[in-house]
Amino acid sequence: MIDPFGRTVSYLRVSVTDRCDFRCTYCMSENMTFLPKKDLLTLEELERLCNVFINQGVKKLRLTGGEPLVRKNIMNLIASLSKHLVAGRLEELTLTTNGSQLSKYAYQLADHGVKRLNVSIDTLDPHKFKKITRWGDLGQVLDGLNAANSAGLDIKINTVALKGTNEEELKDMVNWAGSKGYDMTIIEVMPMGDIGSETRIDQYLPLTNVRNNLAEHFTLEDIEYKTGGPARYTRVKETGGRLGFITPLTHNFCESCNRVRVTCTGTLYMCLGQEDAADLRAPLRDSEGDEAVTAAIHEAIARKPKGHDFIIDRNTPVEPVNRHMSVTGG
Ligand code: 5AD
Ligand code: SF4
Repeated sequence: MIDPFGRTVSYLRVSVTDRCDFRCTYCMSENMTFLPKKDLLTLEELERLCNVFINQGVKKLRLTGGEPLVRKNIMNLIASLSKHLVAGRLEELTLTTNGSQLSKYAYQLADHGVKRLNVSIDTLDPHKFKKITRWGDLGQVLDGLNAANSAGLDIKINTVALKGTNEEELKDMVNWAGSKGYDMTIIEVMPMGDIGSETRIDQYLPLTNVRNNLAEHFTLEDIEYKTGGPARYTRVKETGGRLGFITPLTHNFCESCNRVRVTCTGTLYMCLGQEDAADLRAPLRDSEGDEAVTAAIHEAIARKPKGHDFIIDRNTPVEPVNRHMSVTGG
């Protein structure tokens, strides 16, 4: 699959549920209305859809959400997808998770050929953690991380930089991740979806500032390391760990975009930061064969946009993208 800008699409992110057991302030409002269950693709339909993408050249698959591990029987889907790993049709199967269910699932994930996980943690202070996630429990997440570590999974910590919240703590988190042998990426908050009483401009912390601050404490050496995602990595000389920066606002990375996203209702988004989408559920359900859905995918890739138009400033009060990250998947 090659888009109009010559970019090969080989990476699919699948949001298997829009639900989550946390309510992070930058991601959701406290009273979220989730999709009606009847709109969701079944796990069998999700598997079929993934198979079609793999047949069309997808080599990397990331399950996201919401929280992917709160979807009922999710391990069945992961078990089915892992067959493609064994057969060599798929190079990598990974997840982005909030870690709350990892104590339960880490070993099964490793058994199914998952090698790496992205775990979202924005602070190591239990009170702040509660404040940011509203419903989360840091202890449970740290237990989950230990389980994942024992199961032999490589871990990357995803940390959203939040002005006035974890700004001062990022240095300690870099030290912590380094000491644990975890990679870490710091992410700029993106204007996606209504988050209730909070405002983006109050959360937004440009990573240019963050990086400059960190550079006062650490020697950051740019490295070529790539995971297929948008992060630009450095090596932290003092800890030996890798530290990545995901900068959708201060440094657009769309020119190297290799991915598309599918939601749990079978909507294909060609860009995280654009509204244009294609419905894959109807062609999937309307015929037993995969020709219709394959055609719909190619039609959609042919209009993959050049990039996103994220902007956060006081003069742009509306959310440019009126859907939450939990719908499209991070
Ligand atoms: N901006 C930036 N990152 C976000 N995430 C969720 N919502 C947003 C947002 N609006 C992060 C989560 C997780 C990843 C999937 O995306 O913290 O690490
Ligand atoms: Fe859940 Fe992740 Fe959104 Fe937090 S950021 S509410 S953990 S989906």
